[in-house]
Amino acid sequence: MVLREALEGALVMGPMTKGSNLPYRRLCVELGARVTMSEMTVARRLRQRRKGEFALIRRFEGEPFFGVQLASTNPDELAWAAALVESRGADFVDLNCGCPIDHFTHKGLGASLGRQPSRLRRLVEAMKTAVAGIPVTAKIRLGWNDQARNHLDQARAIADGGADALTVHGRTRNARYRTRADWDAIAEIAASLPIPVIGNGDILFGHEARSLAAGSGCAAVMTARAALIRPWIFREHADGEYRELTAEERIAVYRRYVELAKAHWGDDEHGLARVRLFTRWHLDFWCREAPRRPDGSFPSMQIREAGTSTRTLLEGSLARTDEKALDHLADCLVANREILPAGMPEPEAAGREAVLEIQG
Ligand SMILES: Cc1cc2nc3c(=O)[nH]c(=O)nc-3n(C[C@H](O)[C@H](O)[C@H](O)COP(=O)(O)O)c2cc1C
Repeated sequence: MVLREALEGALVMGPMTKGSNLPYRRLCVELGARVTMSEMTVARRLRQRRKGEFALIRRFEGEPFFGVQLASTNPDELAWAAALVESRGADFVDLNCGCPIDHFTHKGLGASLGRQPSRLRRLVEAMKTAVAGIPVTAKIRLGWNDQARNHLDQARAIADGGADALTVHGRTRNARYRTRADWDAIAEIAASLPIPVIGNGDILFGHEARSLAAGSGCAAVMTARAALIRPWIFREHADGEYRELTAEERIAVYRRYVELAKAHWGDDEHGLARVRLFTRWHLDFWCREAPRRPDGSFPSMQIREAGTSTRTLLEGSLARTDEKALDHLADCLVANREILPAGMPEPEAAGREAVLEIQG
């Protein structure tokens, strides 16, 4: 399938460190995702033949349209890595120009690349020259901060370098997740580029994906945190219908993830430790799911809204955000034990807010 066809009207599952692990992508594909992406993969670590990095570029059998995202500042290294991921079966290769984390930006990677559009162009050119046939894409933010917004310059440089599509996360590097995504800026880029643009930021429901795609003129849109909180968003998007799962239905989805994770990492001691680690990590997002408000409006879920109603005891158990409860839920899921509200540990004195400050 060609990229343009794959993107047309799609809700892309965003690249997420840790979150886009192979079994989680499988879960999202079972729930309707058609375009998926790897976690950010550091080209240098691939060159060093690090096993953990190679695991990130693996495509699962039957994955419909899979892109590998690379991070590098070096055109030769990037070219080599792009050719490698093509030979390993990726459908497209993407350049990360948005990661805000200091550890990476201090090395010139991620969002720091966006400060030098001419460099972006050279990197994309190097990738284009290296691959035999797969499309090359890039993912940017709007700039380093509000005073240094340069999204149009970045976008043009990337298109001039020969990229086949561009993803725009509608926030600056310094904004992290503190501000709403700026879909006007995304629309401005979509209107001025000759290549398909994938708009990204704050899509939590299928209907939002559809309306933001239509309103911005983007070929496709991407969601990241919603894929972690409510992976059935892909079904919602495909069917055009809001879905509110019962607590039992949600648990069935989480159990399916555990099954896929065991199939991937194994169910020996070592494998189960990975499954437990990832399940616990995902629970930090799963607990943010909240039903529609009584007035018919939709909860934000950036963090779990205080006082969000829980309709059943089991739903209440899934809404807990304290460590003890999440550990207990992870144990039940991994051991395939029933989750009983009566069996939940006593709440800690102060629950903590679900994590927000994450990479992107
Ligand atoms: C846990 C997590 C990990 C992420 N890792 C990456 C990454 O490796 N590469 C990337 O380009 N963006 C990454 N992002 C950013 C998302 O792809 C996306 O751009 C951002 O979350 C905004 O979309 P959203 O509002 O739908 O969450 C990550 C986001 C999250 C929540």
